[in-house]
Parts: sequence; structure tokens; C-alpha cells
Amino acid sequence: MTAPTSSSAPVDPTSTDAWGSLEAHNLELNGSLREWFDTDPQRADRFSFDAADLRVDLSKNLVTAETVELLQQLAREVGVQERRDAMFAGTHINTTEDRAVLHTALRRPADATPTLEVDGQSIDEDVQETLQRVYDFADSVRSGEWTGMTGKRIETVVNIGIGGSDLGPVMIYEALMSLAQDGLEARFISNIDPTDAYATTKDLDPETTLVIVASKTFTTQETLTNARLVREWLLTGLRENAGLTVEQEKEAVARHFVAVSTALDKVEAFGIDPKNTFGFWDWVGGRYSVDSAIGTVLATVLGPDVFEELLAGFHAMDEHFRTAPAEQNVPLLMGLLNVWNVNFLEAETHAVLPYSQYLHRFPAYLQQLTMESNGKSVRWDGSLATTETGEVFWGEPGTNGQHAFYQLIHQGTRVVPADFIAFATPNHALVDGEQDVHELFLANFFAQTKALAFGKTADEVRAEGTEGALVAAREFSGDRPTTSIMAPKLTASVLGQLIALYEHITFVQGVVWGINSFDQWGVELGKQLAKDLAGAVAGDDAAITGEDSSTAALIRYYREHREG
Ligand code: F6P
Repeated sequence: MTAPTSSSAPVDPTSTDAWGSLEAHNLELNGSLREWFDTDPQRADRFSFDAADLRVDLSKNLVTAETVELLQQLAREVGVQERRDAMFAGTHINTTEDRAVLHTALRRPADATPTLEVDGQSIDEDVQETLQRVYDFADSVRSGEWTGMTGKRIETVVNIGIGGSDLGPVMIYEALMSLAQDGLEARFISNIDPTDAYATTKDLDPETTLVIVASKTFTTQETLTNARLVREWLLTGLRENAGLTVEQEKEAVARHFVAVSTALDKVEAFGIDPKNTFGFWDWVGGRYSVDSAIGTVLATVLGPDVFEELLAGFHAMDEHFRTAPAEQNVPLLMGLLNVWNVNFLEAETHAVLPYSQYLHRFPAYLQQLTMESNGKSVRWDGSLATTETGEVFWGEPGTNGQHAFYQLIHQGTRVVPADFIAFATPNHALVDGEQDVHELFLANFFAQTKALAFGKTADEVRAEGTEGALVAAREFSGDRPTTSIMAPKLTASVLGQLIALYEHITFVQGVVWGINSFDQWGVELGKQLAKDLAGAVAGDDAAITGEDSSTAALIRYYREHREG
């Protein structure tokens, strides 16, 4: 077999020898997790791996050693390793946008060798220079050297952005907020629903507020609208509170607004001083950009040291993915398992269940990462995908989810593979009398994957004294696949490792399916139609009449019921 190169057309996974073997293997696969654990005392060891600081136990998935071998063969036949190497080397694997895909370059250590080139240009220096500018800015805000227009210290940093310019910063801020500098907080505005800008600013003091407008393209309707709304809020406040004159407004914007973007000309046109603008590059996708200057809000509020630790965590996982042998390569194994679950076990969704309240936005963050990346029906050469592709990712922190949707995962008719994530040491250890509460929490974490894997048989239900029709209702089939991910503690480094883990899992799945995981054309039509509908929504009758009957009726309903 000749390994495919990074520029080849995608290999149709269904045409590989491995695919046929996996289909046959799936039909023949019998036994259960109960049986497999009983007959193989080494199963947990065999299927547990370390990646940087993460311990990942895959043993409660519906696989045998043979399944994993066949999945590895599939990876070889479709060329996962070649495409991984091409990504790290800066090849234009984002074919529809003709771009390199180099978020991994953002977290290389400053002294990494050999230097990395994109299109013949060394990029390491650019990355380090921008990072240094972000850190200098962050330090000046943190030290109180950078003040607002009236000389007051900055107390709130408001990040305005959406999608990749919001979800990563929000998720990480929520996860690490206990590390925020005293007297400094971050807030986030993303939605064009005016409620978001209103509710986020209503109790803020414009004199102590600094705004970061984060937008890769600086064309996003939501972000630019919110930036204008907040600029108006800020200037109005400064006029009222501090007697700002019209002449001083330009200076006020310069003192209270900075930007992060790849479109420096557009930032300047908005009125933000180019020297207060932090750039990044077209080879960083929006949903892969939290480790670029898009993280300025994090470096400012949590501090450059925390941001550095985060980047080091990302890099540790990159190195694992780049260098670990296939049999121990966790992102590769987890990506292949997802393919197994989607394409052979017919899973349509995938739950991510962090047992950490601080990670409550992690599933939302992963939704963009995974679904904007792999929610596609065509392959990177424009041909149709030959298999089902990206599954629906969703989740909530445990134990809250246990009292909401776990019923379906335990006893529903659908297979819902789930990743359980937990940490040995709590961020805040509390006791309830004699009881260490983190231990109660983790007992739930361990109990859930055990219940899902091994279930409860009818005999076991009867042995507890239940009879008749109730037996079936109380039975648990087991054999519901889960992966357990544990780490010593939720630190900035561990969080970076987790994010990079899921980035690379997503990549592996995309390569198997032949998908370009780095474009997002599917978001364009809705954006275009929203612009086209503006006239009709504003009451242009001729425009409403031209619409389909459903859209027209809905707009009329809006026109009739809108107050004010
Ligand atoms: O509409 C989708 C999207 O393009 C995402 O991919 C991106 O993260 C988000 O919008 C925000 O884009 P920008 O950073 O350019 O404002």
C-alpha cells in the first residue's frame, strides 16, 4: 500500500480494506463489556493511555483489540499521519480557502527549532512579537499604568466578539476565573440580541471599562454592531459623568478601545488606534484562535503567566499528537473511536460531560470546534462525502446532567458515546461535616461510567425484590460506550491540553471522512439572507410580498406585534 500524500484527493474510507474488515468485524463482534472485563483482567491497562498530564481510559468503549487494530489500519490507509505532518509543516491543507492551518505554531516555545516557515516566510518571530505586545498591554492594564480617559484604573475588560472570537475566551475565563487579578474582571458580549450589550454594560462604569473588539475578519455584523453600541454607551457615559467634549471623543475611543483582528485596515476605519491593535494571521481559523491575540482578554485579566501556561499545555498535547506512536496516540485513538461510533455503531451524537463546574462552557466551546469543523457533506476535492460525517456534540457538567438527560443515555434507544472528564484535586476543597465534598462528586463520576458500561440485569433487579413489569423498567442494558479523562487538577496547562486534545480528535475524524475541517461555508447563506431581509423586516411591503409565504407571514406577525 502506498501512503496517500497531503495533496492527494481524499481516499474514500469505504474503499479501504480496513473499512470492509471493520464492517465484517462489527457483525461478528459479540460479547459485552461485562464479559470483556471478566475475561481480560488487563483490559483497563490495555486501553488506558497518558497524554501529557491527562490519563485517558478508553476501556469502557465497545471495542476489542482487533477493533482498534483495524481502526489504525484505516488511519494508515486514508493517510492521517501524512496529513497531520502536512498540517504541522504549514502546507495549505485548508484547500477551499487555500490556506495553511497552523494554530499549532501559536503555542510553539519561543526557542523552538527549526524555525517554521509559511509560504517561504519565517513566522516564529511574528508570533512571538505579537505575543509580547499582548503581554505588554496586559501588564500595563494590570499595573494601573493604562488608565481610562479620566485617569481611573481599568476594572472591567469587555470582550466583544462571536463564535471563535468569543467562545474560547469565555470558556477559559469561566474555567480559570479564580486566577483573575483582584479588582479586574472580564465580561463578554457576543449576541446581536440588544439585550446582551444592554445587560452586560448596565452596571458598568464607562470610566473604568476597557473594550476589546475581537474579530478575525472585522466584518461580522454582530460584533461591529455591538462595538458601535458599546462605543455609544461609553461616550454617552463619559459625556455625562466626566464632561467629555466632542473634541475629546477620539482620544476616549483610543483609551477605551483596543482590537484584535487580521484586518488592520478595517480596525482603523472603525476608529481604533492601529497601535492598540493586535494582529493574527489567515492561517489561524476562528475556532482555533483562542491561543492567538484573541486571548488578549485572558492575558489581561488572568495574566500573561497564566496565558503562557495555557500555551505550554496546548504545546504539550501538540507534541504528543505529533510524535507519540500510533498505538499510544490519544487524539488519534479518540478520533478513530469517534469514527467507529458514528460510522459503525450509528451514533448520531456525542456527549461531553465535565465533572467540573468551572468547565460549564466547555461543551459549548466544543460545539463550534467540532461541528463547524466536521459538519460537512462534501470532501476536500469537492466530491460528496461517502459516509456519515460530524456527529452532534453536546453536554453539561455533571452532576447537573445526571438529573436532567442522563436517563436517555442510560436507558434510551440511541447510542450516545460520552466523554467524562474529572480532576483528582478540587479547585476549592470543601467539607460537609466529615465528608469531603469532592469525593462525593467523584463517586458520582465513577458511578456513572460503571453503570453505563455494566448496567443491571433483570436477575439483579429481581434479586432486589422487584417483580413483574417493573423489572424491565428497572433494567439497565449496559454496553453504553464512555471514555474517562482524568488529570491531577484543572490548571491552565491542563485546560490547554484538553482543548488541543479535542482539536486533534476533530482533525483525525475530518481526515478519515476526507473533509476540510478548516472552512465554514455553511454559515454564509444565513448571513447573506439576514442582510437581504433587512428591508422586509423594517416594513418594506414590496419586499415582504416577494418572500415565500411562510417567511412573509412571520415577518408580518413581527410587524403587527412589535411594540415601541
Ligand atoms: O460565522 C462563523 C464565523 O465565521 C466563525 O467561524 C468565526 O469564529 C465567527 O464567525 C466570528 O468571526 P470573526 O472573528 O471574523 O468576527
